[in-house]
Amino acid sequence: MHGKLITFEGGEGAGKSTQADRLAKFLNKAGIETLLTREPGGTFGAEAIRDLVLSGTQDRWSGLTELLLMYAARLDHVEKLIKPAIERGVWVISDRFADSSMAYQGHARGLGKERVEAVHKAVFDDFEPDITILFDMDPVMAMKRVETRGEKISRFDAESIEFHKELREAFKKIASDNPDRIHTINADASIESVETQILFAITQKYPELAAQLTRAD
Ligand code: TYD
Repeated sequence: MHGKLITFEGGEGAGKSTQADRLAKFLNKAGIETLLTREPGGTFGAEAIRDLVLSGTQDRWSGLTELLLMYAARLDHVEKLIKPAIERGVWVISDRFADSSMAYQGHARGLGKERVEAVHKAVFDDFEPDITILFDMDPVMAMKRVETRGEKISRFDAESIEFHKELREAFKKIASDNPDRIHTINADASIESVETQILFAITQKYPELAAQLTRAD
């Protein structure tokens, strides 16, 4: 049986990585082999591109160069890690994927939806995640979380609050364009509540999983 690609999307500081860990543990308990990964990155080559694209000054790359770097990293990631894992029956959970390119480079950096879709099609044809969870929350609250965690500030974290507000709207628009694939959850809630919302979305899409999970309890 083929595995699946589950992606987590949203602005900065929404708690995606914590939830990715929790979902992987949950699926493992139900006997499903999982693989946690992230973008940009996930393979040796894509992590090298990640360093290039996330560090340096704000104007280091033009929007289009940024998009192409993201897709170069994504292609390496899909060819070397994601597709082979799915073929082995593994459920892959990726912290960000192509919707981030649409939101950040397509909308917030102003390249436009058509340009990003054209690049996606040229690189991947119709390949897309099986299910995507969009972590939605007020960017002001989210940036406070980033600050309190004292994490390294990337080129994107350092953008203005307006940029992050635009991003939130962009992700909402992408979700409304893809209602069957993207499930929006309220990320401004406790860790447990966010986890429950995610499991609800996933078991609704894959009801057979609900039975497996109950047996695993
Ligand atoms: P990261 O520190 O992983 O951010 P987060 O914890 O919020 O996921 O940095 C990834 C950054 O790269 C993030 O700001 C979003 C950006 N990005 C793009 O601009 N386009 C893309 O296609 C991807 C995958 C990420």
